[in-house]
Amino acid sequence: MIIKKPADIPSSEITDQQIYRDRRRFIRNTSTLLLAGMTGTVLQPRPAQAGYGGQPVAGTRPGPFSTNETPTLYKDITSYNNFYEFGTDKKSPALLSGSLKTDPWSVAVEGAVSRPGNYFLEDILKGQPMEERIYRMRCVEGWSMVIPWVGFPLSGLIKRFEPSADAKYVEFQTLLDPVQMPGQRRNVLDWPYVEGLRMDEAMHPLTILAVGLYGEILPNQNGAPLRLVVPWKYGFKGIKSIVKMRFLEQQPQSSWMRSAPHEYGFYANVNPQVSHPRWSQRRERRIGEFRKRKTLMFNGYAEQVAHLYQGMDLKKNF
Ligand code: MTE
Repeated sequence: MIIKKPADIPSSEITDQQIYRDRRRFIRNTSTLLLAGMTGTVLQPRPAQAGYGGQPVAGTRPGPFSTNETPTLYKDITSYNNFYEFGTDKKSPALLSGSLKTDPWSVAVEGAVSRPGNYFLEDILKGQPMEERIYRMRCVEGWSMVIPWVGFPLSGLIKRFEPSADAKYVEFQTLLDPVQMPGQRRNVLDWPYVEGLRMDEAMHPLTILAVGLYGEILPNQNGAPLRLVVPWKYGFKGIKSIVKMRFLEQQPQSSWMRSAPHEYGFYANVNPQVSHPRWSQRRERRIGEFRKRKTLMFNGYAEQVAHLYQGMDLKKNF
């Protein structure tokens, strides 16, 4: 991977070469690991780890907005995945994502910002508050999980890039590399995977970029090394293995909008009143349970986010 050093990034923000070469050392050198509230975590059975998955994330502290519902088992979170770059069934990502190389990793920042450039992952993570956020997650397919993410607010990172008044939306892209991502050799989606948020959604304090779960670095199948988590939207908004962020004036087109526009809209808010054209969204099955639960408006986060959509027709803007 060729990474240019943009002239407008101060040298204090450029990764120390030693750290860049050895992320393990970077992880060890940060302060102590806290597994607050995660008792029993290490005793859970777990599938084989891909990439750096399973190594502790240093310096994690409890963050706001966590639910006190019981987290889904680690083995379920990491073996029942959607990551079409590694196949369209739930098991393939855990089995095949070992081929994804997450180090070195960089994120290109483009569009309406004063500080565009290619940023090493280490620069993106530098100084970010690493928080544990236990969020309810709801998939458009009708299942849900409770996931103890480790991550940091997207808003703090966006501010560093100094977006201009023209930045109305942010678009995210996943790595495009059919060698590392064998699912990209098939035309199931228009690669690379693309998602987007309106700027106020991206800046909302619930929105995080995750680097880990259960106090540990994300396994590849969950979107290592950096993925989006927006808990009031269907899971497909949570784009994995992000390599690009573009700040745009116009609403971007996500991969799902492109592949099935009448089934998947830009907003993708969890909304039990708007059925998917082929099935109802009124209920969901929490992975690990048999009974069905009622799906809550905005996945139970209405108090925090309903105001973002005031005056909008949510049937039209689904
Ligand atoms: N990101 C990429 N790059 N490719 C994908 O196929 N699937 C999405 C989302 N992010 C997907 C993706 C969907 S449909 C869901 S439900 C969630 O990832 C699943 O995240 P998880 O496997 O960590 O639970």
